Amino acid sequence: MMHASAFIATSLDGYISRADNSIDWLEDASSDATEDYGYEAFVSSVTCVVMGRKTFQRILTFPEWPYQTQRAIVMSSTLKTIPESLGDNVQLFNGSAQDVVQLLEAEGDSHLYVDGSRVIQDFIAAGLLTDITITTVPILLGEGVSLFGGPLPKDVKLRHVATRAYQNGFVQSQYGFLKA
Ligand SMILES: NC(=O)c1ccc[n+]([C@@H]2O[C@H](COP(=O)([O-])OP(=O)(O)OC[C@H]3O[C@@H](n4cnc5c(N)ncnc54)[C@H](OP(=O)(O)O)[C@@H]3O)[C@@H](O)[C@H]2O)c1
Repeated sequence: MMHASAFIATSLDGYISRADNSIDWLEDASSDATEDYGYEAFVSSVTCVVMGRKTFQRILTFPEWPYQTQRAIVMSSTLKTIPESLGDNVQLFNGSAQDVVQLLEAEGDSHLYVDGSRVIQDFIAAGLLTDITITTVPILLGEGVSLFGGPLPKDVKLRHVATRAYQNGFVQSQYGFLKA
């Protein structure tokens, strides 16, 4: 059984990035180098990162590719190539959430990190997301890319697992998705 997790930060009004895809507000707020909000422990628990094309393009602007030991899948219907420097561990996939999970399960992956709001919403709508950790940053952006808000075939019920408040005002909540 595949385990698929999202681990994502939002503004208090629910945005994961500004409309121009910038995350300066998040980088500024999380500048404390001694606290990673559980991110490294989470990333080291996953076997594969499944991300949207826009998240991939944002990551390409970082000084280095962050997923050295994990396989990565970039969901896109428009990208045709991946920079050669990333090697074989980063692959393109054009298909549904169900298709990518089927492929990765068949190839032995067991725990996915699902990233990017469009991909997260696709996984949720398909009933394929197992859990989500949302770190809320105390800032209002007014507009941007929403974590949620895409169509759902029916209500989705979750179980609250834990909430932790950090000194800097970040509030992190974990939820598990209940099977319908
Ligand atoms: N706050 C945070 O923690 C956080 C985390 C991750 C990302 N972000 C930010 O969020 C922004 C991007 O988020 P986003 O939600 O707009 O985009 P996204 O989910 O990263 O990417 C959306 C794109 O992924 C492709 N895609 C998604 N599902 C697909 C499918 N089933 N089949 C084929 N292609 C599929 C499509 O690309 P094509 O158009 O190529 O078909 C789609 O336009 C970036 O600025 C990123 O930096 C923030």
